[in-house]
Amino acid sequence: MKSQFMSGKHFLKAIFFLIIFGWNTSFAQKPEVIAPTPPMGWNSWNCFKAEIDEAKVKSIADAMVSSGMRDAGYRYVVIDDGWMTIERDKDGHIIVNAAKFPNGIKPVADYVHSLGLKFGIYSAPGCFTCQKLMGSLGHEQLDANDYASWGVDYLKYDHCYYPKTRVEMRNTSEDSCRAAFELMRDCLRKTGRPIVYSVHDVCTKINNENTRENALPWIKSVANMHRTSDDIKDNWDRMLYCLETTVDLWQYAGPGYWNDPDMLEVGNTTLERLWGGISPIKMQLHEYQTHFSMWCMVAAPLISGNDLRNMTPEITAILTNKEVIAIDQDPLGKQGRRIRDDGDLEVWCKELSGNKRAVALLNRSASPADIKVDWKEIGMKGSLKVRDLWLHKDLGKFNDSFTGKAIPSHVAMVLLVN
Ligand code: GAL
Repeated sequence: MKSQFMSGKHFLKAIFFLIIFGWNTSFAQKPEVIAPTPPMGWNSWNCFKAEIDEAKVKSIADAMVSSGMRDAGYRYVVIDDGWMTIERDKDGHIIVNAAKFPNGIKPVADYVHSLGLKFGIYSAPGCFTCQKLMGSLGHEQLDANDYASWGVDYLKYDHCYYPKTRVEMRNTSEDSCRAAFELMRDCLRKTGRPIVYSVHDVCTKINNENTRENALPWIKSVANMHRTSDDIKDNWDRMLYCLETTVDLWQYAGPGYWNDPDMLEVGNTTLERLWGGISPIKMQLHEYQTHFSMWCMVAAPLISGNDLRNMTPEITAILTNKEVIAIDQDPLGKQGRRIRDDGDLEVWCKELSGNKRAVALLNRSASPADIKVDWKEIGMKGSLKVRDLWLHKDLGKFNDSFTGKAIPSHVAMVLLVN
């Protein structure tokens, strides 16, 4: 009588097949990397603040398509603070502001998806959001489940009143702060839906002390992107401050995790009030172009913040410059670094796939200037091709170095070198 158990020979055969076929298929499947390149999209905060509603979101999504933004790679339409009330229903679900979103959030997400785009939303780990509306504290899984059932693809998780007040937030221990952001990460994972997790300045200021050095090494295991700065403003100095907050963090960025110096101000036509001593002087067109260039150099998420329904052709041209966007989205996922700082004249380099380099010659000074880059500074040598990515023009081949001549004040010349 044959044994009902496998003979030793058959058992070995089974193991062999399992290793050859089974391992390659199910067991060895790598989990999907969320945000393999910096997320691109639009967020309501910079131009609308909390004044956001269904009609605006839908018309912005339409404009993302008609303006060519979708074709240039922008995907996420993100509703920031202001979509919720300060209440939950008897089952604990957050109550959506019905005056702004009379049909709830799901139909808005469905509409955004119907255009081939993705949908994002906002919350915070404390009792309140930064606008003092309902936060996720104590309801994290319920909220995550609601987001997943609405079709949310991106969550911006802010940090203002944790657990209850701003003072308490500054005094929480790093561990408790870390736990709050890990909790929502785990809740999102449990939904089974891939959701980009964007977090704000996590635990980098405890007891009013800058604890960035402690927090940064672990943040990349928690989120897909991390706000490194306070809020950006449509102001040249403020934009540079935001950029500076990422400079030393290049070693953390890579596929799945990106440093986020805040959303783009390119083309923001709203007038912002005087804020924290920062004058409301808006950036000019060439400064917007520099802002966009530098965000691409540091592999920042490209989250536009302007009213996409009313863009001038010049603003559209900046936001949809595919050659500059390709630097940001390069699959190698390296954050660019400042390799020379001669006062107000700077040279930045971003290593790209295919042994190419993106080089930005940034003139922060008040007058035009020449800026030179030596090939050895960017780890290259010999005769190299140089292309100007704003002029869309090949400049020729250059031996050992290249000099950008009379680069205007507040302009970055962006080059592809190979
Ligand atoms: C701030 C955040 C802004 C915006 C705002 C909403 O903390 O930095 O980007 O989300 O809260 O209240």
